[in-house]
Amino acid sequence: MVNVSKVYFPDKQKFLNYVEKVYESGWLTNNGPLVQELEKRLAKHLGVKNLLCVSNGTTALQLSYKLLQLKGEVITTPFSFVATTSSIKWEGLDPVFTDIDPETFNIDPVKMEKSLSVKTSAIVPVHVFGNACEIEEIDRIAKKNSLKVIYDASHAFDVKYKNESILNYGDISVISFHATKFFHTIEGAAIVVKDDDLYEKAKIVRNFGLDDQNTVKTLGINAKMNELEAAMGLCVLDEIDTILAQRKKSHDYYAAHLKDYVQLQRITKDASQSYSYFPIVLRSEEELENVRNALLAEAVSPRQYFYPSLDTLPYVKLRQVMRNSRDIAGRILVVPMHSGIEAAVSKIIIETLHKQRR
Ligand SMILES: Cc1ncc(COP(=O)(O)O)c(C=O)c1O
Repeated sequence: MVNVSKVYFPDKQKFLNYVEKVYESGWLTNNGPLVQELEKRLAKHLGVKNLLCVSNGTTALQLSYKLLQLKGEVITTPFSFVATTSSIKWEGLDPVFTDIDPETFNIDPVKMEKSLSVKTSAIVPVHVFGNACEIEEIDRIAKKNSLKVIYDASHAFDVKYKNESILNYGDISVISFHATKFFHTIEGAAIVVKDDDLYEKAKIVRNFGLDDQNTVKTLGINAKMNELEAAMGLCVLDEIDTILAQRKKSHDYYAAHLKDYVQLQRITKDASQSYSYFPIVLRSEEELENVRNALLAEAVSPRQYFYPSLDTLPYVKLRQVMRNSRDIAGRILVVPMHSGIEAAVSKIIIETLHKQRR
């Protein structure tokens, strides 16, 4: 079965050489040399200043809310992976949804002001499938209402907005390096912190709140990346240009062949493509089922992603139905972008739609 995500394994010997080094140094975790090297190389590669590697994207989000001392209500998108909302709830905060733009799939800033209340302390937008949010508008709303902004940039590795890394926007940006992402560290993530002092504090908070002298300076958590994860990241980073070139090729093939049959995500003006996923939106849930079954019959497993819309989660207070998010979640499929089967997948989709729409 060909799945949507396939874990990328970089050159084996290179990884084993790092393992050898780890055995020699005896340094497995606790901000070791490989984590420090990865942080430096990622900061340079991505064009950001204050980047810290952490244990995973979910913890990275939680750490960010703590660092920024969020309280009360947090505005977020209903169209994301569950961790965007669950991390807010887990920190004892109240997620309040603003619906999405049905073309970009990102939170719609025009609707955002209606979600504000005196209890709102922050906005947590997601660059969905790596598509840049309406950053300037979100920034304007945040400034006007003294709100913090934490971008969930989990899908936005190497994305630029107006030629600058998208991770430089907001108070903090979080990016997941989970094994399903094309740049990965097995489990892992990074936070990019705008404020220099907050960045210094983040280093301490990620390590139980301990500073170098082993004194507890502040409330902290264990959010450390280990050396073997960093080694994997260093190996994948060496191959990132090849990975991206291959994904661009798949992406361009799908875009050229499917654009007349299905709705494709509208990429935000002035933003670069992320090539992290290739989502297609069918006309109806019935079409989605037909396309999914036709692909499954050929051993290709697309993913209905994101599904369900997060305003249906049992642990969030339903204030208002998020119509656009539910509608897109019911009709969206993500297809594989890693296996050279784009021509076969496109053919199955087009043939199924021809039969259906005749
Ligand atoms: C949009 C989004 N946010 C958060 C996460 C959580 O990241 P992690 O799996 O590293 O905890 C993911 C993970 O896939 C994600 O896609």
